[in-house]
Amino acid sequence: MSSVDIPREQWATRIGFIFAAVGSAVGLGNIWRFPFQVGQEGGAGFLLIYLLFIVVIGFPAMLVEFVVGRYTERNPVGALKQVGSGIWEYVGWIFIATGFVILSYYSVVAGWTIRYTILGLQDGYIADAAEAEAQFVSLASGLEAILLHAVFMAAVIAIVAVGIERGIELAVKVMVPAIILITIGLAIYAATLEGAGEAYSYYLSPEWGTIAANWQSIVPAAAGQAFFTLSLGMGVMITYASYLGENRNLAEDGAIIIGFDTAIAFITGLIVFPILFTAGVDPADPGAGAIFVSLAAAFGDLTLGWLIGAVFFGTVAIAALSSAISLMEVVVSYIIDERGVSRPTAAVGIGGGMFLLGIPSAYDLVLLDLFDLFADQILLVLGGLLLMILVGWSLSELAVEELQRGIGDLGSLASAWIWAVRIPVILVLLVALTLGILDYYEFLTGPFAEWIGEQ
Ligand code: PHE
Repeated sequence: MSSVDIPREQWATRIGFIFAAVGSAVGLGNIWRFPFQVGQEGGAGFLLIYLLFIVVIGFPAMLVEFVVGRYTERNPVGALKQVGSGIWEYVGWIFIATGFVILSYYSVVAGWTIRYTILGLQDGYIADAAEAEAQFVSLASGLEAILLHAVFMAAVIAIVAVGIERGIELAVKVMVPAIILITIGLAIYAATLEGAGEAYSYYLSPEWGTIAANWQSIVPAAAGQAFFTLSLGMGVMITYASYLGENRNLAEDGAIIIGFDTAIAFITGLIVFPILFTAGVDPADPGAGAIFVSLAAAFGDLTLGWLIGAVFFGTVAIAALSSAISLMEVVVSYIIDERGVSRPTAAVGIGGGMFLLGIPSAYDLVLLDLFDLFADQILLVLGGLLLMILVGWSLSELAVEELQRGIGDLGSLASAWIWAVRIPVILVLLVALTLGILDYYEFLTGPFAEWIGEQ
């Protein structure tokens, strides 16, 4: 059965589409991954390079996904079949696989955010860093983690099953404004903390020396983060743009979406660093356990920290939910379009499969890394890279024409866009892919081999 027989759903309003894309973009990447990467890469220097990449890499790449989606009005597999021939048809499959794997463990991490919201309200947070770490390790895996993973996945299924207009669009219209208001509120609170001044200078005044000395690690980390945080490289923006009925100005929509995502990441830094500095935690320390260990311990140290912490983790859970629905929608749209399955059946089936695939990640942190590194550093980058090569080098005319629908003649800006895709975007993705593969190899032969040995 093909999509032609089934009337395709559409966003009801422009703001609905924008909120859905912002909801997808704003997620664990902004609130969890961004601050710990800033910490790891030495502060303000990373922030500067990251902002540069958002504009030079993220913006052109997002427009590529938008034009492919709107032009084909299909899910990623159908879209790539339509515009590509030969092996290019299969690029869509990489997107589906990436979405499937990422949501399987994203949901586990989202489960932790639910657990930490409850923790604040019930017992408060532990101020001692070592004890906080032990607590995280015990909460992160096991039966309870699996249960919360199920709860979160059920919420995602429930929203996606209802559909685009009454499910996703309605949900993001509530969630996105809530996320924006609460993050601003928390940043204002953080400004009153004693460590705020020191935190701001760490976060906001770049030292050229630090950038020059660490550019080899700053550049790929900033590029990867720019791609991940904008939900690029796995067909989310193709899928969401495929539900656009009319010809809007995609460049304007893209700029608004990117503006919101960047603002939320930036503001999160204004929350996290003052809290860490006030509690005397070195921001370079946290690593991946960042918000669940250092930040949780810092909440344990603050007056009313249990409440601030619960609000913070609750917001992270909502942000994760609005991203997770976009991940599920990529796969569900494929099943609906190409297989003719009904939306609720598709959502339950796919969500159930993702839940099962996520169980190992909720069972042991090493297995979560196994999935995360593979999906994030290899699959996501590979899918993005292939799409950029296809559109940048062999479909550029079609792409420019599609982008101009709703904008008008772009003149030389059009070729600036195509050349940005052809050279900087592709180069950066190539470098990121190489480093990602090397890193994965190290993980497989190091921590993972050790873990297997212990079993
Ligand atoms: N952009 C989301 C975040 O920042 C993550 C994500 C990646 C969501 C890819 C969908 C697709 O958390």
